[in-house]
Amino acid sequence: MRPFSASSFPLFDSFPDAMIAVDGDGHIRLVNEQAERLFGYGRDEMLGQPIEMLVPQQLRERHVGHRSKYVRDPRTRPMGIGLELTGVRKDGSNVLVEISLSPLETDDGSFVVSAIRNITERKEFERTLQAKNAELEAANAAKDQFLASMSHELRTPLNAIIGFTGTLLMRLPGPLTDEQEQQLRIVQSSGRHLLSLINDILDLAKIEAGKIELHLEPVRLHEVIEEVCDSLRSMATDKGLAFDVVLPNEQTLVRSDRRALSQILLNLVNNALKYTETGSVTIEVATRRTSSGLHCDINVRDTGIGIKPQDRERLFQAFEQLEPLSTRRVEGAGLGLHLSQKLSKLIGAHLSFISEPGKGSVFTLTLPIDAKGIA
Ligand SMILES: Nc1ncnc2c1ncn2[C@@H]1O[C@H](COP(=O)(O)OP(=O)(O)O)[C@@H](O)[C@H]1O
Ligand SMILES: [Mg+2]
Repeated sequence: MRPFSASSFPLFDSFPDAMIAVDGDGHIRLVNEQAERLFGYGRDEMLGQPIEMLVPQQLRERHVGHRSKYVRDPRTRPMGIGLELTGVRKDGSNVLVEISLSPLETDDGSFVVSAIRNITERKEFERTLQAKNAELEAANAAKDQFLASMSHELRTPLNAIIGFTGTLLMRLPGPLTDEQEQQLRIVQSSGRHLLSLINDILDLAKIEAGKIELHLEPVRLHEVIEEVCDSLRSMATDKGLAFDVVLPNEQTLVRSDRRALSQILLNLVNNALKYTETGSVTIEVATRRTSSGLHCDINVRDTGIGIKPQDRERLFQAFEQLEPLSTRRVEGAGLGLHLSQKLSKLIGAHLSFISEPGKGSVFTLTLPIDAKGIA
């Protein structure tokens, strides 16, 4: 066998992959350090040996066939595309590899150079990743299932609590002492609060899972606003705040999802009342024409504590409340604005605010007006 000098390929040792050059008869003629390390043989143990020494026993015969075919049609290409290839080390252990072949013409004749990369770690990593993915999918499915059943399981008893507290308060089953009435009112308002919290969390979970169902349709804005204000009027009365609703004479039809719209407004008005100690909360509706058509602004104006410029960003984050827990006087979970903003986007609306600390805030929900317009 004619010597094939490694010195004609000084770069061989600097390749990151194991490199082995084989002659037309399949004998190893050149190896680099990485190949020695990968297969555990010394250079001298490999040179002159058939390349099949590095191939698993059961594949050796077939490998000879593949090799002769390659010599007849030599091109640079990966070997065994899509297959997991296995090499055998000196100690008999297997190593998962990826191999690219290229022909090499030299003065000493034609050779085939294989670049061999150890992919054991990568494969293991891929396998772990796949297992993790399957785990995550299962966990996600379990979460969806949990939420679907919990939304029912949590709401049903809570609705019973709120409902029966209502009938007790209406004195349907019999008379109440003042003390009983007062305590029942606490049960009722805590129940309502818990229900709205549960609804927020479940809605948020559904939005995150892309499972929220919205029906965009023409909605009579006046009706929604009046419902929202009716449900919160007692809060204004209790705090001694003026509470005004200023609506245009004509009905406004907005294109929206009724429940989502109502939930956003409930939160905005509830916040305005919560974060105002003296003065007023006013809801005004104004329509205006922009380049993209008719729009309607619902302004919720308060004379409350206001929002500092540096707090603007935090406001819409989940579970963010500006007042630290230690000094907080009002209840809430900091989900309202986060959810409202997400819902606004989903119904094609826009939520913004202006505020002056110590003076008050105006939160504005801008909605597209339905094609049928103003009725
Ligand atoms: N009208 C408002 N005036 C002053 N601060 C407000 C107003 N609305 C919201 N905020 C601030 O934004 C925070 C986040 O609001 P929100 O997400 O609705 O949570 P929550 O009502 O549960 O506190 C509130 O905790 C409050 O600090
Ligand atoms: Mg809120």
